[in-house]
Amino acid sequence: MLALAPSIVAAAQLVQSPTTPAPALAPPPAPSWSDGIGALIHARCAECHRPDGGAPFALLTHRDAARKARTMLEVVEDRIMPPWPAAHGGELYREARRLSDSEIALIKAWVEAGAPEGDPARAPAPPTLAAEWSLGTPDREIAMAEPFTVPASGKDIYKYFTIPIGVDDDRWLSAIDIRSNAPAVVHHVLFFVESPEAKAAKRPRAERRRSIGGWAVGMRGQRLPLGLGHPIPAGSDLVLQVHFHPSGKREDVTVRVGLWFTDEKPARELLEFQLPAAFGQHAGLDIPAGDAAWTLRDRWRVPAPIEIVSVWAHAHTVCSSARAVAHLPDGTSRPLLSIPHWKFDWQLRYDFVEPVLLPAGTIVESELVYDNSAANPWNPFQPPQRIRWGEETTDEMGSLIFNAVAVDPRDRGTLGAAYQAHVEATAHGVAGRGAERHIDASKAFDRDGDGILTQEEMPERWRNELLGFDDNRDGRVSFEELTEGLNGRSKR
Ligand code: HEC
Repeated sequence: MLALAPSIVAAAQLVQSPTTPAPALAPPPAPSWSDGIGALIHARCAECHRPDGGAPFALLTHRDAARKARTMLEVVEDRIMPPWPAAHGGELYREARRLSDSEIALIKAWVEAGAPEGDPARAPAPPTLAAEWSLGTPDREIAMAEPFTVPASGKDIYKYFTIPIGVDDDRWLSAIDIRSNAPAVVHHVLFFVESPEAKAAKRPRAERRRSIGGWAVGMRGQRLPLGLGHPIPAGSDLVLQVHFHPSGKREDVTVRVGLWFTDEKPARELLEFQLPAAFGQHAGLDIPAGDAAWTLRDRWRVPAPIEIVSVWAHAHTVCSSARAVAHLPDGTSRPLLSIPHWKFDWQLRYDFVEPVLLPAGTIVESELVYDNSAANPWNPFQPPQRIRWGEETTDEMGSLIFNAVAVDPRDRGTLGAAYQAHVEATAHGVAGRGAERHIDASKAFDRDGDGILTQEEMPERWRNELLGFDDNRDGRVSFEELTEGLNGRSKR
């Protein structure tokens, strides 16, 4: 009570007499490098802004920081730095990098006061370098067979490298991390696993590969929670898609990959699902030149309770925002991920502080928006061109990717089958764009012709898919709900 009193008094004065000026509070002394700012910058910036940390300059000393003060303020106010494209921070995710408003205010006060040093004798010591791998020695370390030469200048380069993982029994991957001899040019890496069966199947590249996440500058290896692991069948290869960014100096780059496995088969099996499936390959992704807000949506009804442990998004450069929301059966919604300004370079995995429990009947909805206008500075084509699904970074793709577990392991089969039905629905144009066919097909299920599909009328195989459109939660799906849902005009 006592501690609150002064502010209550101040607030009361303002309310009583709005014409009196606010009580003059002495401004707090501007923070200095030695008092507060140095420690803050070390904690929030130095993991990358140090020699070999991946960022283009160090921010370890007052001199480093004072020289960059103005740009630092710009990028922290615009939330470009530290890189953390998600709208939510530590209230939702572990190891969140998002600065708080008061941290931004502190940096602002310091820059506007002329970036003072304070007492040099009290300057904080630069943080000591972590061990080479943040998770300790990897269980297995593999590397590119030979170095790849990145020229001093020119366009960014995206290249695939296939490396045998070299394990001859089935394993479960709990964490992955990378190191390279040229941190300044390795901007980000996407990881895929190709099992011997998948290789033998000779299907297109994208279908053979199971994506297991990505790495971007400054990312630390992070174990999957709950002792979970990505299944790695014996004899699998790891496929890396590496984004190289020329740094002004020619580099022969070797990327090394650290792999950490679970000690034994995880007690709970990872349930991985993507919305839309297969990075949107079958979702009708076709973005007209000049369209500034082309939208890709998908939704999946969770038929049994699950816990979501992490989420990330993948798309290329024309994407402008990505988001996923869970609509619970009780009518409430929970944000899962919101990236209001998509950054191709910072595809981070977001691990929830607490796994998010989604009861049976929850509808998980994803949305990716693409800006294929000339105003999008990341548009690879000027003037803009029609862009379709493809593997090149000048093509597009997109999906929200979830790592989850069944609350009751006995539901794992039901969940897997329901997701498989969703994948098929997408592949047949049932979900996503071009869904008119599906609306017509569904009309055929409406035996009594009343414009409403009851659960009895729905074929068992598609029941969960169809119930994913039950927006008013009455256990039935009207053609109106179906049309709105499929055309992405859902009002939610
Ligand atoms: C995860 C690694 C990482 C962290 C943490 C990080 N940066 Fe950066 N920073 C980078 C990289 C990499 C670049 C180069 C530009 C790019 O690739 O986006 C950069 C660029 C910058 C730039 C130059 C931007 C420009 O447009 O010229 C400034 C200024 C900056 N960072 C300030 C900060 C500050 C201040 C913090 C902490 C509050 C911070 N950074 C935290 C990686 C990081």
